[in-house]
Amino acid sequence: MPPLYSRITGVNKLSGDKHGTGDRVERVKAALAGRSVVLVGMMGAGKSSIGRRLAQRLSLPFADADHAIESAAGMSIPEIFAQHGEEEFRKGERRVIARLLGDGQTIIATGGGAFQSSETRERVAAQAVSVWLKADTDVLLRRVRKRSNRPMLHTDDPEATLKRLLLDRAPHYATATITVQSRDVPHDVIVDELLETLDLHMQGQQTDAQTEAGAQIATVRVGLEERSYPILIGPDLIRTAGPRIHEILPNAACCIVTDNNVAPLYLAALQASLDAAGLRHAHVIVPAGESSKSYAMFEQVCDAVISAKIERGDCVIALGGGVIGDLTGFAAASVRRGVQFVQIPTSLLAQVDSSVGGKTGINSRHGKNLIGAFYQPRLVLADSGALNTLSEREFRAGYAEVIKYGLIDDAAFFTLLETQWRDLFAGGPTRIAAIETACRAKAAVVARDEREEGDRALLNLGHTFAHAFERLVGYDGTRLVHGEAVAIGLVAAFRFSVQLGHCPGQDASRVEGHLRTVGLPTEIAQIPGFDGTAEQILDAMAQDKKVKRGQLTFILARGIGESFIARGVEAGDVRHYLEDALTRTA
Ligand SMILES: NC(=O)c1ccc[n+]([C@@H]2O[C@H](COP(=O)([O-])OP(=O)(O)OC[C@H]3O[C@@H](n4cnc5c(N)ncnc54)[C@H](O)[C@@H]3O)[C@@H](O)[C@H]2O)c1
Repeated sequence: MPPLYSRITGVNKLSGDKHGTGDRVERVKAALAGRSVVLVGMMGAGKSSIGRRLAQRLSLPFADADHAIESAAGMSIPEIFAQHGEEEFRKGERRVIARLLGDGQTIIATGGGAFQSSETRERVAAQAVSVWLKADTDVLLRRVRKRSNRPMLHTDDPEATLKRLLLDRAPHYATATITVQSRDVPHDVIVDELLETLDLHMQGQQTDAQTEAGAQIATVRVGLEERSYPILIGPDLIRTAGPRIHEILPNAACCIVTDNNVAPLYLAALQASLDAAGLRHAHVIVPAGESSKSYAMFEQVCDAVISAKIERGDCVIALGGGVIGDLTGFAAASVRRGVQFVQIPTSLLAQVDSSVGGKTGINSRHGKNLIGAFYQPRLVLADSGALNTLSEREFRAGYAEVIKYGLIDDAAFFTLLETQWRDLFAGGPTRIAAIETACRAKAAVVARDEREEGDRALLNLGHTFAHAFERLVGYDGTRLVHGEAVAIGLVAAFRFSVQLGHCPGQDASRVEGHLRTVGLPTEIAQIPGFDGTAEQILDAMAQDKKVKRGQLTFILARGIGESFIARGVEAGDVRHYLEDALTRTA
C-alpha cells in the first residue's frame, strides 16, 4: 500500500550548509547520478518557478510539461480541453512526460493532474526523484485566482473545486520521494529547503544502504533561522541516536532523563549507542506520570544534570513521553542558563506534538504548564518502533492529537485518517507518514509564531475544554489521560461551533464518529466519576492561562480543516453549551 503522505527515506548526516550552495549542490548532483527531478503538486504550488530556479542552481536543463504539451498540440491547454476533452489531454500529458524523462537529466515541472496517472507515477519512480511542492489551500487560491488559464477551475465555485481536487490528489502526491512546503516567501528560500531536504534524503539513503537496508526515515525541518532543527521519524532511531547526536554536537557529554516505564525498555539501547559514538553519559530516572512535572522533580533533574558536569555545549536528552520532554526541556533551558537539548519522544503524543516547538515546563498548584520556557531542541528523534511498547490506551490518546492537525487546517489528512487509521495503529507505513504530516503541520505553525502570539493558538483546538476536564479530575491519569481529554475537547469545540452557528452539524458528527470508531471518549459522561457542574468547568477554563482579561478565547471551527481563533466568547454561551453537554450520556 502506498504511504499516506510523502516519505523521505533515510536521513543521517546533518549538514551545516544552510544556503544550498557549494558542497550541497555538488553532493545533490552526484547523488542524483543522472536522474531527473520531477516536481509534482497542485496548480499554483509554484512548480514552474521553483523548477526553473532549481535547474539554474544545479546547472541542468528545465522543462515545463504543460508548455511541452501545448507546443506538441499547437494550441493552449484551455483549447485542448475545449476541443478534445480532458481524457485526450491526459493521454498527451502521459506521452509528453515519458518523452521528457527519456530526454536525459532534466528538472521537470508537471501539471497538477499528471501524478494521478499510475503509469506516470511508476515511470517517475523508476527514472527520477520526485518532489511534492505542497501548499496550503489559501496560498493556492490566492495564486490561481490571478490567472485564467486553469480549465479545471472554470466552475461556479473554484474554491470548493480546488479543495476537492486537493483531496483527490493528495494521496498520489504523497508518494513522491520528498515533500517541500511551498509558501509565500522568495523562491530561493524554497529552493534552498528543497536542496537541503534532497541532500538529507540522499545521504540517508547511502547510510541506510550501508547499515539497515531499506529503513524508512522521514525528516521534517523546524525552520527557526539559526535555531532551526530537524525531526527524524522512523524505526531504530534510539539504537542509532549516538552517531546522530555526535554529528550535531561533536563530543558533547550527555545526561539522559527518562522515567521508570521507559528506562527498562530503552535506556540501555540509548546508552550503548552513545558509547559507540564515544559520547560520555549519565542518567536520571523519575517516576512516570504527570506528577513528575513538579518543582521537586525539576530540582532533582537540574541537580542530576549539574552533577553530570554538563556544560553549555553539552547535552541533556529527554527519553520518554511528553512529561519527560516538558520537564527535561525546562531543566535544559535553566541549568547554566541553557545547555543543549535533544528530544527522543517515545509516546505518540510526544512524537506528534510535545517534542516539537520548544514549549517546556512544569505544573504549579495553580494549574498546568504555568512555569516554563520556550526552549528549542537541537534535534528530535522520533523512533516509530518505540510506539509498539506503548499501552493501547496511551497510543489511542496520542492519536487524538494526530486527528487534531486534520481538524485544524488539513481536511484531506482527516479524510485519509478516517480510512487508514487501522494501518497507523498496526504500525504500517501510515504510522510514519502520519507522524511526519503532524510534525510538518506543527513545524509550519511554530516557524510562523514561535511564542504563540498569533496563530500558534490554533494548536489548542479542543484544549480549553480538555484542560478544564483534566483539572477537575485532579490530573488523575487513571481516570483521564491528556489525549482522552483532548478527544472530548475536540468534540466539544465542534459542537460548540455548531451551537454558535459557525459550523455544519454534519462536520461535528463526523469528528465524533471517527473518535468513537477508534475507541476514544467523546462525552463528559465517559470520564469515570466526573461530577463537575457547568459552573465548575467554566471556572476551570477561566483559570487556564489562555484567558485574557476575563474573556474566554476558544479555538472554534467553520468545518473540518477550518479552525479559527474566537476571542471574547460569552461565558453565557459556554455555560449553555456545557449544561447541554452534561446531560448527554456515554
Ligand atoms: N510541550 C508541548 O508542546 C506539549 C504539547 C502537548 C502535551 N504536552 C504535555 O505532554 C504530557 C503528556 O504526554 P504523554 O501523553 O506522552 O504522557 P507521559 O509522558 O506521561 O507518557 C504516557 C505514559 O506512557 C509511558 N511511555 C512513554 N513512552 C513509552 C513507550 N515507548 N513504551 C511504554 N510506555 C511508554 C510513560 O511512562 C507514561 O506512563 C502532558 O504533561 C502535556 O501537558 C506538552
